[in-house]
Amino acid sequence: MAETNTQHNPNRLLVTGGAGFIGANFIHYWLKTWPDSRVVILDALTYAGNRSNLIDVENLSSCRFVHGDILDESLVERLLREEAIDTIVHFAAESHVDRSIHGPDAFLQTNIIGTHSMLKAAKKVWLDGQSSSHRFHHVSTDEVYGSLKPEDPAFSETTPYAPNSPYAASKASSDFLVRAYHETYGLNVTTSNCSNNYGPYQFPEKLIPLIIANILDGKSLPIYGDGLQIRDWLYVDDHNRGIDLVIRNGRTNETYNIGGNNEWTNIDIVRLICELLDQQFESDADMSKRFPHAPQASGRQADSLITYVKDRAGHDRRYAIDATKITTELGYDPQESFETGIRKTLKWYLQHEPWWRSIMDGSYQNWLETNYDN
Ligand code: NAD
Ligand code: TYD
Repeated sequence: MAETNTQHNPNRLLVTGGAGFIGANFIHYWLKTWPDSRVVILDALTYAGNRSNLIDVENLSSCRFVHGDILDESLVERLLREEAIDTIVHFAAESHVDRSIHGPDAFLQTNIIGTHSMLKAAKKVWLDGQSSSHRFHHVSTDEVYGSLKPEDPAFSETTPYAPNSPYAASKASSDFLVRAYHETYGLNVTTSNCSNNYGPYQFPEKLIPLIIANILDGKSLPIYGDGLQIRDWLYVDDHNRGIDLVIRNGRTNETYNIGGNNEWTNIDIVRLICELLDQQFESDADMSKRFPHAPQASGRQADSLITYVKDRAGHDRRYAIDATKITTELGYDPQESFETGIRKTLKWYLQHEPWWRSIMDGSYQNWLETNYDN
């Protein structure tokens, strides 16, 4: 199928996984940027979904939250018809590599079968019968490309897929299904493969929010292996700006890599967060009262909590994104530097202690205890 439709005008969106980290940020970004749009959110509220992430938008007349599963094809079909949806933005997924190592089944079910269920519903409503203007945007990851050596060039859209974790393999499979639904049936699809995101609402099992919360609670900072693995970090709103560009102007059945050209070793990120929080305690006397278990409250530095632990199985050494295609073709330009983005993120976590504390005290802790002994 050789069609290369470029322009799309998204007015009525179905956003899957909108109660999760990137999805919730996307909803906020979208409604602020395009306030005349209609946005329907479909989320199963798994451990990673948090309805309170949407508290300030859920009651807008332009917004509707549906508690449901992407595997429920008839529900998706009904929503597409009754809301006259013209654009699907598909975030819903199981997203944590460590969980995929301990329990891959849920990843195959949600990320592969779930994406297929979304594609089947979209095909039925948008293509079978009277075909209508539409776009299915699939949100994927750079982890599908595998691991880079230090001297390797960054991942481009033509880098062969070589997923290493069950998470990455499930996302790679879903990317191929999306492609197949264009090639075989003519569904208008686009895919974006993004590097590691950070920012508000990120579940504190991922590196950056985990380190922030653990410092504030005086818990150890687990560094897997030698801590010299490299990730390419992007502020979440810059990811969502990229998705917006791809949905509107991306060529059908093209994939676009999104990244910030911002490679850091894990240990350097952890040390940076330690330093920034040390400075915060020094400049704000209230911090020691709010967080009495933090090392700074008893005169120690945050990096005293750093603890090297057993490496993750199959741990990818390095990810890096070459964003030339989205930059030159669609004019993509990330707005946040790492310096400004990480400070914004720290500020958000300091202002939203009840949000992360309820997570740390609840389901995440139970999962940690059943899966890890250190
Ligand atoms: P997340 O784990 O924070 O959120 C996932 C959301 O999907 C949750 O709200 C959850 O309730 C929902 N969900 C899970 N299974 C569902 C189902 N069966 N039906 C409906 N909803 C379901 O994930 P995230 O970090 O926000 O990632 C969102 C997407 O972006 C994923 O597809 C992920 O692969 C991709 N991605 C993430 C990153 C990153 O750094 N976090 C980077 C690149 C790409
Ligand atoms: P993570 O945030 O889980 O994202 P991903 O695995 O998708 O890249 O992890 C980022 C990096 O940090 C990864 O190399 C694993 C490492 N890491 C630790 O060293 N300690 C931790 O406690 C966590 C959660 C991650």
